[in-house]
Amino acid sequence: MKGLVLAGGAGTRLRPLTYTGAKQLVPVANRPVLYYVIDNLVDAGITDIGIVISPETGAEIREALGNGSLFGAKFTFISQEKPKGLAHAVMIARAYLGNDDFVMYLGDNLIGSKIRSAVSDFASKRDVSAFLMLKEVPNPVAFGVAEFNDRGDLIGLAEKPAVPKSNFALVGIYMFRSSIFDAIGRIAPSARGELEITDAITKVIELGGRVDCARIDSWWLDTGKKDDLLLANDTLMDDWLVAENRGTVDQASKISGRVRIEEGARVCGSTVRGPVVIGKNARIIDSHIGPFTAIGDEVTVERSSVEHSVIMTASSIVDIARVEDSLIGKRVCVRPGAARRTSLSLMVGDDCIIELSSD
Ligand code: TTP
Repeated sequence: MKGLVLAGGAGTRLRPLTYTGAKQLVPVANRPVLYYVIDNLVDAGITDIGIVISPETGAEIREALGNGSLFGAKFTFISQEKPKGLAHAVMIARAYLGNDDFVMYLGDNLIGSKIRSAVSDFASKRDVSAFLMLKEVPNPVAFGVAEFNDRGDLIGLAEKPAVPKSNFALVGIYMFRSSIFDAIGRIAPSARGELEITDAITKVIELGGRVDCARIDSWWLDTGKKDDLLLANDTLMDDWLVAENRGTVDQASKISGRVRIEEGARVCGSTVRGPVVIGKNARIIDSHIGPFTAIGDEVTVERSSVEHSVIMTASSIVDIARVEDSLIGKRVCVRPGAARRTSLSLMVGDDCIIELSSD
């Protein structure tokens, strides 16, 4: 069985971060989302993996992933000129996929469980044409939603329906046989101009194919927006963070809870309350960090307090009393300016959100 990871797309919901980088490389607990996706495929024994990339961010994704040897896998990169939909991405991967069965995994989705048993289930049930992972959610209107008959058989799917027919949303993990190409060939683009995978799967059912599903009980996080990303960060650090100190912590600092400090990082005169991860060569000086905070590589925090936030590579926060619930990109500088007390002096890119205290 092969893997097909979708790492193209536009990433409009995560602007401005996605103006300068791929959304699948946004870090969660200091590791790109895409790495967790690859880990899960490799854990299921899938090591021959096609990666769909866009012209805008393809080079960055290739650089972050390499040829696969870091993960014990082999990667084939497939370029999609425009984000014309999930089913379109499958179609352009046809030459790579050939007649093999495959697992399609959206590169910005995180789940708290392994897919191993679902993969072997699909491999053994030869009468099943497609296999979906579903998660019960309170707000299905934002997702692809499954429809079942009275016997509990899956009979159709709808993309972001106004009136959902169940509370089961499609997690971004699907398994297909080569019959999916025929189904995609028979669908037309949707109202938003995309070839929808939900339409293709519905077509599989119409053509007499059987579609099976597994319901996941663990968490499922889509890292599409800022709050989703902060929640993904909290959940991952809560569940998977392994405490370890590979850096230096001076006598005046106090570390409590689960804290991971990477090589070359220095913590001086500071309090760190886990779960927290501090990246390589970061400097935390006379500050308070955490809980639920990921400090990226090369970041400096000096005389400041940072809580429940993600601060990405090479940014600095200096002399700021309190930063919380924040997502700060790469090479950002946050510091007091020479401006008068009541004024702000900003240099901020497009689509940023600045929330100031109102007192
Ligand atoms: P989406 O989150 O549905 O789309 P998007 O990345 O364009 O994001 P936004 O809605 O914020 O603009 O995509 C899910 C995953 O699939 C994501 O990793 C991007 C990838 N993708 C492709 O590779 N090709 C495509 O044509 C589309 C639509 C998505």
